[in-house]
Amino acid sequence: MISIKNLTKRYDKGMTIALNNINLDIDDGEFVSIMGTSGSGKSTLLNMIGGLDVPNEGTVDVMGESLSKVSLSKYRRETVGFVFQLHNLVPNLTCVENVELPLFGSGVKSSDMKSRAMNLLKAVGLDEFVNKRPNKLSGGQMQRVAIARALVNNPKIILADEPTGQLDSENSEVIMDLLQEKQKETNAALVVVTHDFEIAKKAERIIKIKDGQIENSQEDLGVTDIDGIVDLEDS
Ligand SMILES: Nc1ncnc2c1ncn2[C@@H]1O[C@H](COP(=O)(O)OP(=O)(O)OP(=O)(O)O)[C@@H](O)[C@H]1O
Ligand SMILES: [Mg+2]
Repeated sequence: MISIKNLTKRYDKGMTIALNNINLDIDDGEFVSIMGTSGSGKSTLLNMIGGLDVPNEGTVDVMGESLSKVSLSKYRRETVGFVFQLHNLVPNLTCVENVELPLFGSGVKSSDMKSRAMNLLKAVGLDEFVNKRPNKLSGGQMQRVAIARALVNNPKIILADEPTGQLDSENSEVIMDLLQEKQKETNAALVVVTHDFEIAKKAERIIKIKDGQIENSQEDLGVTDIDGIVDLEDS
């Protein structure tokens, strides 16, 4: 589904190497989590997969096609659901309008747009907030609207950058269940960046990034090593 080869991304005229020769394959229907310290390159990697930025070297292929050869705006609109680390809601639209936004121009009827958005807002527990604007919501509530928005186009690739970062454990569970439910429904690839090991270990694979490189994956780890990750996170 997603095949990343020799991916390198530099910023600041090459002074910062955000990603250094990443190789990674992710299957459809697979749930992968990405962990790593602040600044290690997690968001950069997600942005490359989501077609929000382009690599300096290497390739990202999705369903056999290089992202360098497709319309990135079409790819983002039709294939990707992105939950941003900062939720990026549009302040002067209501919650339901924010969730409907990705469907404008997609050919979905406006009544269907509305019902899809309402159902998702209900699923994230925000039925009472549909007609409120984001500035009337708490940080965690805004995050839940952003998650509903990311899922409204039934994406084949769901990318979530710290989706539960502002949520208590109960709401985190609700959100993770929703992401995984949606993923199963469409057999999507689900990639979640998280600092929370309880969330990360729900995935089939944990990818650990350090200084822009993949350090290991769950496949090469024994149980003791997984405990090792917990210790690293706690220290
Ligand atoms: N637009 C940018 N311009 C310049 N440098 C950038 C830019 N975006 C990221 N970087 C740098 O690239 C490196 C990786 O950043 P990235 O945002 O991917 O980290 P992260 O792992 O997501 O961190 P966090 O856990 O804090 O969100 C950092 O050194 C960061 O300063
Ligand atoms: Mg980040």
